[in-house]
Parts: sequence; structure tokens; C-alpha cells
Amino acid sequence: MNISFITVVVLMALAPPSAKPQASNSAPASQAVVVQETVDKVFASAPAALPIDPNDMVRFDGDVVVRVSIRSAQDLMLVNQLSDDMWSHHVGIGGDADFRMSQADLGTLDRASIPYRVTISDLQNRIDTERTRLAQPMEGLAWFSDFKNLAAVNTRLDEMVAAYPNLVSIVNAGTSIQGRVIRGIRISRYPAGTVLPAFIFTGTLHAREWASTMTTMWIADQFVENNTIDPRIAAVLDSAEVFVFPVQNPDGYEYTWATGGNRLWRKNRRLISGTTYGVDLNRNWGLGWGGSGSSGTTSSDTYRGTAAFSEPESVGMRDFVIAHPNLVGHIDFHSYSQLWLWPWSYTTTASPDQTALAAVGIPMQTAIKAINQKTYTAGPSGSTYGLTAGCIDDWTYGTQGMMAGTIEVRDTGTYGFVMPTSEILPNAKENFAASMTMMEKLLASSPITITLAPGSLVADNTASTVEVQTVPVVSTLITNGVRLKWNLDGGTTQSAVMTSIGNNKYRASLPAMACASQVSWFVEAETKFIITHAPLNKPTSFNLTATNSCRNPADLDGSGFVDAADIGYVLLDFGPCGDPANCLADLDHSGDVDSADVGLVLLEM
Ligand code: ARG
Ligand code: ZN
Repeated sequence: MNISFITVVVLMALAPPSAKPQASNSAPASQAVVVQETVDKVFASAPAALPIDPNDMVRFDGDVVVRVSIRSAQDLMLVNQLSDDMWSHHVGIGGDADFRMSQADLGTLDRASIPYRVTISDLQNRIDTERTRLAQPMEGLAWFSDFKNLAAVNTRLDEMVAAYPNLVSIVNAGTSIQGRVIRGIRISRYPAGTVLPAFIFTGTLHAREWASTMTTMWIADQFVENNTIDPRIAAVLDSAEVFVFPVQNPDGYEYTWATGGNRLWRKNRRLISGTTYGVDLNRNWGLGWGGSGSSGTTSSDTYRGTAAFSEPESVGMRDFVIAHPNLVGHIDFHSYSQLWLWPWSYTTTASPDQTALAAVGIPMQTAIKAINQKTYTAGPSGSTYGLTAGCIDDWTYGTQGMMAGTIEVRDTGTYGFVMPTSEILPNAKENFAASMTMMEKLLASSPITITLAPGSLVADNTASTVEVQTVPVVSTLITNGVRLKWNLDGGTTQSAVMTSIGNNKYRASLPAMACASQVSWFVEAETKFIITHAPLNKPTSFNLTATNSCRNPADLDGSGFVDAADIGYVLLDFGPCGDPANCLADLDHSGDVDSADVGLVLLEM
């Protein structure tokens, strides 16, 4: 792989400047130096430093990013003629949107009196600065001090597994169109396959949104490094498993880094025809596919593909999610705009769970603000942001019943996709706070209080009653949603719907047990998004155990001792038994209470 990589670099450097996208201005001599440096770096295998000839990238000299007021359909048509790269990916008539266009075309906006403001005037310069910085060796620097390429992300995931083999494992969600594995990690204290509620955090569905890569890596990092130190993280890991997929579009991501690539690439790298590449992986999902805010034009940045799930990346993620029906919460991270968007995206019609989504979503917004005082706008995507059909989170919510949504991380356009390194950690931290809030709210979404339970010892041959109270805070209970589950002596789990007895209380019985047997039980409450458990939210284990007291049958008065008083009981019942159930003193089951039974009491005394 190194060999062919070097070959490509050498060939590119030897090719005439005109073979490169947008003519290079570097002299042949400096190109030769670049090749030599490249070879040195590859052999020294500097971890994060890429072999870079900045001139080999698609260049944006003379381009600016402008925030344009779209007052009418005419404005939109004109702006679309001037720009083939909308940075905001939503435009509503009457709203603002960011576009990259040639500085020379600003005059056209002026002549049409379209209001606009240049937000980034030195775009190519910023990309060059970023690439020069990234070409420096990064050994010894903290991981989050700068953006990281795909290889560095993968290495870090492997390092997490190596450092915490009992907590972290690699999972994958299929293979990209160019054959790269879509890798993630599972973070859990429990063995794989355990039925725990699970959360999934995904990033980099769009290649150029590097801040989303770092945000999801930070979430992984926090859960791994602080799994015991931070009580909130520890509590989540007691009750749930966490999946993180930092790069869902590995080909596109690689392309934004690679020599010969394009820092502002968004889609995957499917070759469609000629020089047209890419399907928007966030328009390719199967719920509402093909609707507004997605394009049928292959060259469009929001090209939806030929069909829902036409792309291996969406298929891989979809199949991973389907294979984990315990998933209850999902955040897909994008950049930029500082938004927290929940379903629906494909329509402005309110989702049936709008109340629940807001009940978690508003505290998430508050949690973000509490970290660095940043304001993120929160709301249903379709009405807050604009229609975008075929998004991942509409699908995870709408078909899998997960609480899902999209966070557009920092900033609001000052830097856009090319974020300064000083923002990496503050951005990651505020979005980690939002993620924690979603998990905690869901895990506590229907707290169960046990109001009546058997003690650790229960009477012989007597059913015991369990009563609970649950007042769901996020969404309502489903029909028959409160259930008592138990097993006898570790056998098969049995389940009974608990009967509502008013005042949010529910009751059911545990069966009578034979002498010396044990019943283990818990109560579960199922709402739209999650099943919570009592006494502890640890669905893998039965938390309360009651044992039959196994009273000595000769202890006829139940005093706890076999003594003279029990002989008195036998004497009182002397004679033939009628109903054996009412003839407890017939200790030898002879049909008569007689001196033999007195003998048995004496033996047990
Ligand atoms: N920037 C994202 C995109 O264009 C936002 C998608 C809309 N919102 C959502 N909840 N999926 O794909
Ligand atoms: Zn995006």
C-alpha cells in the first residue's frame, strides 16, 4: 500500500502542471523536493503527517463564502447559477443561506440588489494554512489538539481496545464503495449480545465536516477514559451500551485529506459517470426518500442516489442498526450551524412524538449552553432548518423507534467547515454534554418505584404481591407496558402484565414456591423509546430475589422453633384428616393425626 501510494504521489508530481485541477503555480524544483519529503515521511511513518503537496488539491483561489438573503425564487435561481457549493444545505425563500462563489461574481449579486455579506474572504488561504499545519509532525501533542485523518482515527480506536479490552471492542458497519471498512466501537461492561438499551453516536456522513469526526471521537474518548472516574458516565455504562461510529463516509473523508483530493467534498465517492462522483449519504435513507431537499441531479451536492439505500455506506449502517434492536437513542453529528434538529426532516408535519422529543431536546440545548454559553437552535428539523428528505435520523427514528436527531456543531459561519483547532475541544465538550443529557433522560424516562415487594424470605405455598408506581416523564407507557418478570431457581424468564390499580400504581403476583426454592424478579416499564427496569436499570440481571422460608413443617404454630407448643397442636388435631390441606399436623401424611406425628415433632425439637 505504501508503495502504490508513493507511486501515485511521484506520478502526480511528475505530471505537467496542467494535469492538476486548476493550474499549479509551484516550480518543478519544489515539486521534486516535495516528492523526497513524501518518501521520507512515509518511511518514517510519521503518524498524523500526510504527504502533502498543497497544489495537488482542488483549489478555490478567488472564492469567497457569502451569506445571501434569498428573498424570492428568482434570487435563488441567480445564486444557484453563481454557486455550485451551498454550504448551508437548506434554503428557504425569506431566509439566509451560505454559498461559496467566485469573488468576481459578487458584482452580479450587487447588480441584482440581492443582500449578502461575505463571511469568508480568504477561503483558499485558510485551507492552505490548515494543510500546512497538518503536514507538521504531531507526535507528543494531545490527540484533540488538531484534526485527524482516517488512519489516525482508526489507530485511536484500536488503541482504545488495546487499553480497555474488557470495555471496548471494534464493531463494523460494512464496507464503503471503495472498500474501506466503516468502523466503530462498542463500549460496554457487559458481554456482547446482552440486552441493554444502547445508544449510537455517528459522525462524518459528510466528508468535509471534520468537526463531527472530532466530536464523536471525543464522546468515545470520554466513555472509555472516564468509565469509572466520572460517576455520570459510570452510571450510564451500568445500564446501557454505547456505540460510536466516527466516520460513516470513509472514502469521502479520505478524499478531503488526500493528495489529489478536495477539502470541501461532501458526498461519498461513487463514480457516477465521466467525472461526476458521489451520492449524498444523508439523502439516501429509506424514510421519505426522494422528497424535498434532495436532488435527482447527479452532480448536485444533495444527490440522493438512484434509490433508497443504493449506497453501500447507508446499507452498512442500516444493517448495523437493524442488527441492534436494543438501540434507543441516536445522534448524527454534522457541521456547521449550531443546531439540534429532531424529526421529522422530510416534512414540516409534527412528529407524533414531538412532546417527548422536546422533553429531551430542550434540556440537551440547555446542557450545551451550560458548558461554554453557546446557543444552539433546537427544534423539529423540517420547520427549524428546512426540508431534507432521506436523512439517517428520520430513518432511525421512524422505522426503528429510536429517539434520534442531528446536531450541527460549531460554528455559525465565521469558519464553517474549516474550523480553527482552538474550537475542537470546546465544541466537542458542549456536544458531549448534549449526548449525556439524551442518555440520562432516556434512561430515567419512566422511573419505577417499588411500593410493595416480598422480603427476602417468603411464606410457603403463598403467592406474593408486587406493587409499583411509575410516572413516565418523557413519553407515555405503551399498552400493557408495565410487566413483572421472574424466574424460579434461575429457570426460564416468565412475564405477567401488571394490573393498573389507579394512582399510577400497578400490581401483579409472584407465584407460590415450593420449599427452599428461589424466585428472582424485576419490573419493567415500556415507553415509546425505552424499557426501564426496577429496582436497578440493569436488565441483564434479576435484582431482587426472594427465597421460600422453608418453614419446618413441624413448626406448626410458625414460632420459628419446634417446641412443646407444636406437640399441643398435634394433640388438638388428633383423629382422621378430612381435607389434607387443613390437616397440617398429619406430618407423615398417613391420613390420621396420631402418635406417629407426635413422634415426628419430638424428632425435630
Ligand atoms: N446538514 C444536514 C444535511 O444537509 C442536515 C440534515 C437535516 N436535518 C436532519 N435532522 N437530518 O444533511
Ligand atoms: Zn452534514
